[in-house]
Amino acid sequence: MNLSFRDIGSGEPIVFLHAFPLNQRMWDEQVNDLSSSYRVITLDLPGFGGSPPDDSRSEVGIDRFAFAVLYLLDSLAIDRFHLCGLSMGGYVALAVYRLGPERIRSLTLCDTRATADSDDARKGRYETVEIIKREGIKFLALNMTKRLLGETTLSEQPNIVEQVSRMILTSSTAGIIQALTAMAERPDSSALILNMGVGFDLLVIVGEEDRLSPPDEMRTLALAVPGAKMGIIPLAGHLPNIEQPQRFNDTLREFLQSARRA
Ligand code: MLT
Repeated sequence: MNLSFRDIGSGEPIVFLHAFPLNQRMWDEQVNDLSSSYRVITLDLPGFGGSPPDDSRSEVGIDRFAFAVLYLLDSLAIDRFHLCGLSMGGYVALAVYRLGPERIRSLTLCDTRATADSDDARKGRYETVEIIKREGIKFLALNMTKRLLGETTLSEQPNIVEQVSRMILTSSTAGIIQALTAMAERPDSSALILNMGVGFDLLVIVGEEDRLSPPDEMRTLALAVPGAKMGIIPLAGHLPNIEQPQRFNDTLREFLQSARRA
């Protein structure tokens, strides 16, 4: 599968996986900052940004997204890498870790969860699929933007509200439906996290105003791995890397430097 990607800078590779229903452009501020010291890879998951939806006839699940990421990294001859995923990108990052743990130098999970969907959440996703089939993705741009961004950003940063809404509209309907199905059927990764064990380089980041994966839930995830680090980003919702990029980048950079020493 041909994924649209960026490969910028040199040094230890770090791979960024985007949220639903966005694309790799959400990492622009991280590319600008970190590519002075790292080889930064961003990519559009199938059906988002410039990547076509998965056209195989088999069912598309989170693992197919993870395999697409691993194929891309193989084609770039990247063996070991730091991995950072936000929300849906976190679900995919956990699948990449499950499929190739020895390749992961460090893992950063942002505004995501390790548990599978509850029955209600799963039902909600399939209802959304039906609405999208009827009405297209415009309603997602309206509804999701409000849910993704924190109160502070919604009231004080109209440029970011506009940027996120426009990004959502570049996604393909087929990609959105595939991603909703993949997220609804994703496995529970709690045991995977518990088995990471002492000393595994895990960073958990969450926006203080995130209502989709709130700080308390993210704290539980971080506590499952002894020694894991946690960063709570003030004045940010579910997309702290866009809403408060400087604070996000500082937190990530500090962690990557300590992981490099290990
Ligand atoms: C995301 O930001 O990727 C979504 O909120 C993930 C989800 O719907 O579970």
